[in-house]
Amino acid sequence: VRNTQPTSATQSWTTTMSSLGTAYARVRAQTRELCRPLAVEDYVVQSMPDASPVKWHLAHTTWFFEQFLLKPGLADYRVFDASYDYLFNSYYDAVGPRHPRAERGLLTRPTVEEIVAYREHVDEHMQRLINRAGRDAQLDARIELGLNHEQQHQELMLTDLKHAFAANPLRPAYRAGAPRGLGSPTPLLWQHYPGGLQEIGATADEFCYDNELPRHRVYLEPYELASRLVTNGEFLEFVRSGGYATPSLWLADGFAHAQAQGWSRPLYWSTDLDALFTLAGMGALDPAEPVCHVSYYEADAYARWAGARLPTEAEWESAARLHALDGNLLESGVLQPVAAPGTAALEPGPQQFSGDVWEWTSSAYSAYPGYRPAAGALGEYNGKFMVNQIVLRGGSCATPRSHLRASYRNFFYPQQRWQFMGLRLARSVAG
Ligand SMILES: [Fe+2]
Repeated sequence: VRNTQPTSATQSWTTTMSSLGTAYARVRAQTRELCRPLAVEDYVVQSMPDASPVKWHLAHTTWFFEQFLLKPGLADYRVFDASYDYLFNSYYDAVGPRHPRAERGLLTRPTVEEIVAYREHVDEHMQRLINRAGRDAQLDARIELGLNHEQQHQELMLTDLKHAFAANPLRPAYRAGAPRGLGSPTPLLWQHYPGGLQEIGATADEFCYDNELPRHRVYLEPYELASRLVTNGEFLEFVRSGGYATPSLWLADGFAHAQAQGWSRPLYWSTDLDALFTLAGMGALDPAEPVCHVSYYEADAYARWAGARLPTEAEWESAARLHALDGNLLESGVLQPVAAPGTAALEPGPQQFSGDVWEWTSSAYSAYPGYRPAAGALGEYNGKFMVNQIVLRGGSCATPRSHLRASYRNFFYPQQRWQFMGLRLARSVAG
């Protein structure tokens, strides 16, 4: 896996044999920990084609290790169940045929119990692989890829569960949340960035996906970014002023999609616009919280309405590198975007670059100059999706902290909004 060669500083995870084993155990346990609030019925449901059942996530992440590590890496490994290749392959054409994505919710069998046994089987043999003599850097990099893959699915498990629970008239809570205050928004300030010749892409000192490489130069005109994310209160003004019914604010595809879907507000907002669904159940719509669960189309229309635009991913990354990547991530336990700290009296600096919501950029998801996908089936991880999707940056309240970095490129289709997705405004300035 050319693009995931560990270097001197993948140290946070994988310097020594024992720490890789520990990292493996920790990530795998985190997945199970996220399942702790669930009843067995919750593992099976699929609320839409884009969302997968929790049981499928548990099995697929395990299949990834079995397929890409244990089968090629352990000569005496016996697969747990040969039918799982068909059931739990997500999209790897080079591996073979697979169960249709939209029908994952029909898999009442294998049972949850069998999938838990599958995980334990693979975990046992993965530890054997990790503790075996003669591991090399390529194998370590592939294990690290598997762990990052599992972390991606941890976030997806939560967002897919949220979608399923929101579809239930009982609006069940995944788990009780801390009381959410109704704060007053932090003032929005414009931060100036001079632009010029900048470098973006992953640096050599940490794990990255192939799509973050190669690091390369970009030229940026001077620009400004909002000091914080767009809030519910601000987005509510767009809704109340008829934003969803004003075609001049929208891209043509976006307006057509919004009309066809009957969109009049962000996903999970109540019809009376004063409540929203969270992983803690229904709650008040806090005007100070970042707006969340908007599509690219809605983010783009809002930005136009606000007299601004979305940042490009290069603008975002160049700015984010200047600020600490620390925020409301999975470890905070809130599982909901929170209002930017700060008050009117205290002039805030740039905030919320990391966590809360993935930030839509205006950049199409495509290859960096000189990009080469990894060899073999794992080359399908990112490269083949580089059309018709949009880049999002910064991580969300469901992203594990160790999964994130300034160069991280997430990507979704412009009409999708079930992830923790929001926006930060940008604008161009005269040089
Ligand atoms: Fe996957």
